[in-house]
Parts: sequence; structure tokens; C-alpha cells
Amino acid sequence: MKTKDLFPIALATALVMSCASQDKTIDKQDVLRKLSLEDKAHFVIGTGMPGMSGDHAVIGATKSLVPGAAGTTYPLDSLGIPAIVLADGPAGLRVDAHRKGDKRTYFCTHFPIGTLLASTWNRQLVEEVGKAMGEEVKEYGVDVLLAPAVNIHRNPLNGRNFEYYSEDPVVAGKIAAAYIRGIQSNGVGTSVKHFAFNNQETNRMNNDARISQRAIREIYLKPFEIAVKEAHPWTVMSSYNKINGIYTSESKDLLTTILRDEWGYEGTVMTDWFGGKDGAAQVWAGNDMLQPGKAEQFMSIVDGVKSGRLKEADLDRNIIRILNLIEKTPSYQGYQPSNKPDLQGHAAVTRQSAVEGMVLLKNEDSTLPLASKATDIEVALYGCTGYDFIAGGTGSGNVNHAYVVSLLDGLKKAGYRVNEDLHKQYAKYITQRKAEIEKQQNAAAKKDKKKAMLAKFMPTPRPVEMSMEARQLERQARLSDVAIVTLGRISGEFVDRKMADFNLSTEERRLVSQVCEAYHKVGKKVVVLLNVGGVIETASWKDLPDAILCAWQAGQESGNSVADVLSGKVSPSGKLTMTWPVNFADAYSSRNFPIDKAPDLSLTNQGKAGNGEKDVDYTDYEEDIYVGYRYFDSFDKAVSYPFGYGLSYTKFDYTDAKINAKDDVINVTVSVKNVGKADGKEIVELYVAAPDSKRLNKPAKELKAFAKTKSLKPGEAETLTLTVKTADLASFDADTSVWRVDAGKYQLLVGASSRDIKTTLPIDVKARETKVHSVLRPMERFNILKRM
Ligand code: BGC
Repeated sequence: MKTKDLFPIALATALVMSCASQDKTIDKQDVLRKLSLEDKAHFVIGTGMPGMSGDHAVIGATKSLVPGAAGTTYPLDSLGIPAIVLADGPAGLRVDAHRKGDKRTYFCTHFPIGTLLASTWNRQLVEEVGKAMGEEVKEYGVDVLLAPAVNIHRNPLNGRNFEYYSEDPVVAGKIAAAYIRGIQSNGVGTSVKHFAFNNQETNRMNNDARISQRAIREIYLKPFEIAVKEAHPWTVMSSYNKINGIYTSESKDLLTTILRDEWGYEGTVMTDWFGGKDGAAQVWAGNDMLQPGKAEQFMSIVDGVKSGRLKEADLDRNIIRILNLIEKTPSYQGYQPSNKPDLQGHAAVTRQSAVEGMVLLKNEDSTLPLASKATDIEVALYGCTGYDFIAGGTGSGNVNHAYVVSLLDGLKKAGYRVNEDLHKQYAKYITQRKAEIEKQQNAAAKKDKKKAMLAKFMPTPRPVEMSMEARQLERQARLSDVAIVTLGRISGEFVDRKMADFNLSTEERRLVSQVCEAYHKVGKKVVVLLNVGGVIETASWKDLPDAILCAWQAGQESGNSVADVLSGKVSPSGKLTMTWPVNFADAYSSRNFPIDKAPDLSLTNQGKAGNGEKDVDYTDYEEDIYVGYRYFDSFDKAVSYPFGYGLSYTKFDYTDAKINAKDDVINVTVSVKNVGKADGKEIVELYVAAPDSKRLNKPAKELKAFAKTKSLKPGEAETLTLTVKTADLASFDADTSVWRVDAGKYQLLVGASSRDIKTTLPIDVKARETKVHSVLRPMERFNILKRM
């Protein structure tokens, strides 16, 4: 985009004032007075993407200021207002590791993916991770991290679930708030994204999410509401998609009525990159900044004001909000970044945080931890991924990290012996397969340049699992003490996962069963390790191995973190933040999710008329509020692993659960005692079952609070307090646009998972109502509550 050249800014005086305090402030009214209409239109859009416009645009990758950052704001040099730098997020900072003509490196720490962080259910830990990440943001000269990403895990196949936290809005919101607090404690900003309903990648730029007002409020907006109210993110990023027919970035109902008028948000809203269509409508809606800026948005704003369609006052209001943001940033305050973040310290942070989010799904006969003396054990590693760990997902959520510790290296460093024959065999196989994959990709790139460029941001196909001879397996089973079969999955932006990615491939299934058969024959154990970014099918094979550990994608220290858990140095204490269904089709949303559709490669084709294809051009959220366990538990459906589930190397007893209610606050206390033999932490979940309501369907239970113990020694106990406000018990009644708490007897369920309720405490609650605006109405023909 060359808008800057078209309309040069001719401004003379510097308007920046210095206060008596150290903080520099901007005289915003004076700035407004000095800007022409064209200057104003420039200012609310970014600086474009040099060399990348139109259909060639991809996720942010500016080369100015901090190379590899997603974008910058528009500088007003003559007014002393610099461009500030915006960069992704969320598993760490995404900037280029290498710069032209510069020998030093700018690697960033690859922290665990969002799903793993949420699986810790540990807000304090997530805040610590945020603190560390934010230090890199600041020291590399970035002002706003484009994270956290809090969209709901509506369906297991969403390609970006790995960046997101949970199928439950309370988990997603509370974890996001902790992350934001941590990052922003460094004096840099965050951008909670993608606001909202960006629950699929297929046609994400145009998809119309058709959702009931109740599900909008209770499920999809809730994590944003919690994050905004509890942690005050400096910015919010609107999403690409539409909500009930209108682009979110053009929705005044969403960006002003709900976000600002109802929730009291005072920060800045920016679009997702190239999001939305009509620049004037975006400005009017309260989408302050349009990133990274398109010429047609510029024209639409200027023409809009000239024609009277857009009030200049609305543009001015947005400018003030952008100036408010700039004023707070290190760039404006003159901070000199060191370019030397504490990478070593952060490696320790990521290693430890990853450990807490790993979920032990199965552990027959205490297969794990492995025997205490590592050198006594030889481990046989099966599956390509164990030698080539996946640190995180792809697309804008990728991090340019210096290294990834594989399972092989992690175990070796922990002192384990590894079957070297098998290692050699895999090393050779992986090299060959990767070369073949690269060759195929290069050939495809020659045919289609656009695809080739996108391929850089997309997951590279994983090698098909190597087939093993029965005799060879038998020999290895005799020689080695234990087998670990690693299954890997990688996904990312632009493309949803396929059914084949959810299910095990024939080769993977064969590998798991052959290894289990060979090792069990000689009385040895098999552990399956999942290096995945999202849910996979487990029901059909989980009976075979002795133990299953879901390690997620645990960042650059993955192998060390997994070794810490396998060796028993630390008990796993993560729990699932989403339900693992028996079959993909069991999740209600699977009836309305784009299955195996081609990715949208046009990227900037906003507004192009689709052909009305279901789940591509529009998606009916027919399941309404029945997302995840709200569906499975309300309709008694079998699951493979329930929401909130996770084992430990020790056991816990829950006693003395009590309610202490005063005014509008309900406190539940419960004593958790470690009654096993190892140290461990326990997560306690508090669900509420509402009395039957004549007006609204109520789910069997809904999570309202959670807490985690410190590391408890055997015999040690801790009393946890879980707090719920009466207002949190409300359901949204769309007919009257009221958040309504029905009077009656509520059951407070204290559980170790959604299906392992330890104690039920009844409480009488008085009625209360809070009226809000009736906005974001779905089209009349879409009334899912009646259809269910
Ligand atoms: C993604 C955002 C990201 C932005 C900037 C978009 O494609 O959806 O999550 O922050 O690019 O890189």
C-alpha cells in the first residue's frame, strides 16, 4: 500500500508535552487540531505490509522497526508520535530470529501452547509465564503482544484450538486474565483476540457465525468479558468472521454496546490483519485501528466523512483511543530495549510450566513414573515424533525459537539409556521421509506461488509412521525395559484439522498395537505419549498401552519437561480443559463444522459472495449453549475422557466441604489431602447445577470456579476456597434480554472432573435480574433452542 506517498503529512510543530512525572503524555486535542482528514484516515490504519498486498498478503511480517513483527501503527513523526510495534503471540513473541546484515540472533522463547497453559488450571503460574514472555516483548522493542487468544474450543477440528484455552468460558477467561496480568506487568500491552466467534479456520475471513443471543453471551463472549473486566487488556482484536450477518469489526453492537457500554472497556480495538470490508463502518462501529491497513479502507474513511456517512467525531474518538494506547508504550516513553532478554531464565520458566499442564490420561499398575534410577532403564522410543518433537503450532502462533529438546534428548539428559539401534533406524527414516516431503513441496511450489508462500506458514506433513517387523520388535522388547510410542499432531492458522488428523492413521494404529503386543508378551510396559495441539481419538486404542500421557505441545523445552514427568521428578497435575469424545461425530457441533474442506487461500477476499455453502459461508451453531461437557453431561453421552479429567502419581481425598455465603458471594471451602505416596498438586473444580427453570433449558452442570493446591507431600492437606458470585449463576434470557438468576435450590458440585463429583452442597439462592441490550440478534429462521 502506498497511501503514505499519496498523502504526505505536512505537520510542523511537535505537540508532545512532558509532564513533571517521568511519564510523557500527548496533548490529544492538539494532535486532532493539527491533523487533516487524510492524516486522520492514515492514522487509524496501520502502515500496510510492504511488498505484500492484495491476495499476496499473509499474516503479519513487517520488516520495519522490529523485523518479523506483525505490524506497526502509523507514525506522526513531526508530532513526536512514533510508530508502536505489534507482534504475535500467544506461545511467545514472534519476530524474525535473524536480521539482514546483523550477526546477532533474536530468538524468542517458545513457551507451551495456550491449551497446555490452560491445562495447568494454575493462574499464578500462567501469570509468571506472562511475566517472562512480556520481558521478551519489552526487551525486543515490541509494545503490544497480539495475545492471548481465547476463542472457545467449539469443535476438536478447529485448526487454531492449540492457541485457545478451553471449551469452557470460565477456564478460558480466568487463564486469559492471568496471562494478561503477567505480560502487562512489564509495561507492555496485550491484545485479547479474536473478538469473537472465530471458531473455525475454513473461510474464516467471511464465515457467518449464526448463534443465538444466549450462546453468544454465556459461551462465546464470556471469556472476553472475564479477561476485560479482570485484567484490562490494552487492546482487543476483532475477528475476521461475521456474527449473525455482520462482520465483527463492523459491529457497533459488539464493539461499542457490549464491549464498552456494558463491560466498561476503555482500551483500543484493532482489526485482525486485513479483517472486515468497509473501513468507514469499522471506524463507526468503534474498531479504532485497522491493521495493517488497506488502500480501500483509507478511501472508505475519507469518502465516508466527506459524504456525511461517517461522522468526523467518530474518527476523532478512535484517534484519541489509539493515542491513549501509544502514550503508555515503551516506544513512546523512550524505553531503549536491550535486545537481550533473559532467554536462559525463560527456558527454566517454560520447562517448569509445561510440566504442570501435562495430563496423565491412564496409568495402569503405576506404570509411571519410570523406575527411580534412570541409568537402570533402557527406553525404546517408537514413533517419529519422539525424535522430532513438536514445540507448538503454525501460522501467526509460531515462535522463532532457537531449539526444541526432543523426547530422545530429554530422556538422555535425565540419564536414561535409549535403544540406539532403534534410534539409528528412525534417524535414517525421518531424514529420508523429510527429504521426500520437501521435494514434493518444492515441486508444488513451482506450480503455484501463492500456495507456496502460504505453505511456509502451514504445517508441514508429518512422516508416515515406519512399519516394524515382528521379529525386530520382539528383539527390542527383550532388550529394552519399557517402550514409549509418541504420536504427533501439528495444526495451525488458515486450515482446520481433517478427520484423518483426529483419528489415528492405519500406520499409527498398527504401531501402537504391535508394540503393545510385543512388549506385553515379555511382561514389559508401554507408554503412549501424545505430542498434540488438540483432541485426538483415543477410545478405540486406549485399552492397549499401560499408560498414556498427553504432553500437548510443550514449547522448546518439551523433552526436558516430559522427562521430568516420566521420571517422577514432578507428578503431572494438568487436567483436560475440553472433553475428549469417543467419536468425532459425538460432539454436537460436529453436525455443523466444516469437515475436510479446502483451506481459504484467497485470504483477503472479504465480501466476495460465496455460494451459500453450509459450514463454509455460514455456520449454524445449532448446539447453542451445549458446547463440550455442557452437551455430553446434560445428555448422558459416553466420552473417552471427560472435561476436567487428569490423573496424578498420588491420590487425593476431599473432606469438609462447606459453604460460606455472605451477601452476593458464595465461598466453598474444601480440604484436599494427599493420601498417596508421591508429592502432587490437585485441581478442584466447582460446578453449579441450577434448579429447573420454566423459561430456559439448564445444562446439567456448569463450571463456576476452580482452584489448585500447592505441591502436597504425602499426608499433607490444604484447604482451598472457591468463590462464586450470585450473579455468576445467571442464564441469559434472550426474550427479555436479561441475565436472570432464578430463585431456588442450587447444587454446588465439588469435583475432580465433570464426571467425578466428590460432594454436593445445596444452597438457596434469591432471584435477581440484570437487564442488558438486546443486540446481535440472530436471523428469525434460526431458532436452535426450539429445535433441540
Ligand atoms: C491472525 C492473528 C494475528 C495476525 C497478525 C492474523 O492472520 O489471525 O491472530 O495476530 O494475523 O499476525
